[in-house]
Amino acid sequence: MAGEPLLEMVEVSRTYGSRGRAVQALSRVSLRLGEGERLGIVGESGSGKSTLARILVALERPDRGEVRFQGRSILGGRRQDLVPLRKGVQIIFQDPFGSLDPRLRVGQSVAEPLLALRVPGDHRRRVQQLLEAVGLPAGSERLYPHQLSGGQRQRVAIARALAPEPTVLIADEAVSALDVSVRAQVLNLIADLVDRLGLSLIFISHDMAVIRHVCTRVLVLYRGEVVEEGPVDQIFEAPQHPYTAALIRSVPVLGGRIEDL
Ligand SMILES: Nc1ncnc2c1ncn2[C@@H]1O[C@H](COP(=O)(O)OP(=O)(O)OP(=O)(O)O)[C@@H](O)[C@H]1O
Ligand SMILES: [Mg+2]
Repeated sequence: MAGEPLLEMVEVSRTYGSRGRAVQALSRVSLRLGEGERLGIVGESGSGKSTLARILVALERPDRGEVRFQGRSILGGRRQDLVPLRKGVQIIFQDPFGSLDPRLRVGQSVAEPLLALRVPGDHRRRVQQLLEAVGLPAGSERLYPHQLSGGQRQRVAIARALAPEPTVLIADEAVSALDVSVRAQVLNLIADLVDRLGLSLIFISHDMAVIRHVCTRVLVLYRGEVVEEGPVDQIFEAPQHPYTAALIRSVPVLGGRIEDL
């Protein structure tokens, strides 16, 4: 990777719960996202993927470690230090119902980050452009989330994420809840937009095949630890870790031990 990473995590750990029943959600996880890079994060349910995503966008703080955006720590605790991150790194979640306010019309939802971040310019026009860019029909801005299909709602969530012109997009299981028939469409839309806008991408999924479709490099999480990392084709063809091999074969191993595989 040439130059400074855009987004970086160094030896990040995060534990949930109290001493008696602590869950180590992340254990000394490091990652670097270069400019224009598409990094996949793969792991089964509970491996720590969403915890990692939430820490990267400062929705949550790690117990230990460092997180930097454009070379600067986001853990300083000053609200002001988070301004570049709030604009520059946007996230799409699995469930667009969770990220879209049901009381807001589509147009208001997409315009909201523009208002919140005080982005100058004609917001109405920008919303139109964004809705068009994600393939929603004219007039969609007047609808409410419940009037849309799952795929359309996820398109709205994508438009909203792109509104502040981020440099990094994080997609956390962004297509997992969609019908198989629309999954590929939304996946291709994300890949096209990332290409067209020159974004850097962190694409989180439990599905190695989906990761391979959109990413160049992949990091494999198992019970909060990075067990393998490298170019996605190389790892797909010759996984070095039995857990990775199991993920590629789509064999569930949660609750089992890697040594048993
Ligand atoms: N707020 C929380 N309080 C307590 N435990 C949590 C919390 N968030 C996550 N955990 C635990 O941390 C571990 C990692 O959870 P996380 O949601 O990051 O996994 P994930 O890889 O995103 O899983 P999934 O594929 O199901 O979304 C799990 O054991 C989970 O139960
Ligand atoms: Mg998750």
